[in-house]
Amino acid sequence: MASRFLLLSFLPLLLFSITTASFSTTTNPSFPNKKLKEKHSHLHFFFHDIISGHNATAVPVIQPAEGAHSRSAFFGAVVIMDDPLTEGPDMKSHLVGRAQGMYAATAQDEVGLLMAMNLAFTAGKFNGSVLSVLGRNQPLHPVREMPIVGGSGLFRFARGYALARTHWLNVTNGDAIVEYNVYVMHY
Ligand SMILES: *[C@@H]1O[C@H](CO)[C@@H](O)[C@H](O)[C@H]1NC(C)=O
Ligand SMILES: *[C@@H]1O[C@H](CO)[C@@H](O)[C@H](O)[C@H]1NC(C)=O
Ligand SMILES: *[C@@H]1O[C@H](CO)[C@@H](O)[C@H](O)[C@H]1NC(C)=O
Repeated sequence: MASRFLLLSFLPLLLFSITTASFSTTTNPSFPNKKLKEKHSHLHFFFHDIISGHNATAVPVIQPAEGAHSRSAFFGAVVIMDDPLTEGPDMKSHLVGRAQGMYAATAQDEVGLLMAMNLAFTAGKFNGSVLSVLGRNQPLHPVREMPIVGGSGLFRFARGYALARTHWLNVTNGDAIVEYNVYVMHY
């Protein structure tokens, strides 16, 4: 009697799992592969955001809003970038990847950016792998933390954070070199 009741109560669950089997499968917690272990990586590089001159790597595509109450916040501006990432602070040092994406000034009271970018690596074992960053960046603060929201290649299932520190800034034209330390967990 008890076993029949148990069977009846599990029947809907059983049917559900059969009917959805072709659409999705759920395995043990060591997904995607038992042999794959979670790894932790630290990446250190310099980001070159060059807005001025003929070799600009970042282009403003939308100017700040006319009516913004604080012009110094550049509120409303949108910049598209394809910024080189190098091993050292010198632009001519070893190229390790590119930061491709955009940033938008989304704060009215200070310079505060929404960063949406892919860190596409082109050197070493991470050549071809990408980390995706989506976060808040207040470039005039000494250290900014931005979440790593995912990745591809060797960075599948990536999560972590990036710490950005301004290494050099030309306040007149906005050109900047930013030191990045990225801490990421991946498979
Ligand atoms: C732009 O890049 C070219 C080729 O690397 C270089 O010769 C030139 O000096 C650069 N121009 C500026 C303004 O940095
Ligand atoms: C990175 O990968 C690309 C495509 O596979 C290859 O052409 C290139 O030589 C690699 N670069 C380095 C530095 O390994
Ligand atoms: C900063 O930018 C201004 C305007 O483009 C330029 O005249 C000046 O030489 C730059 N300073 C440095 C240190 O590059």
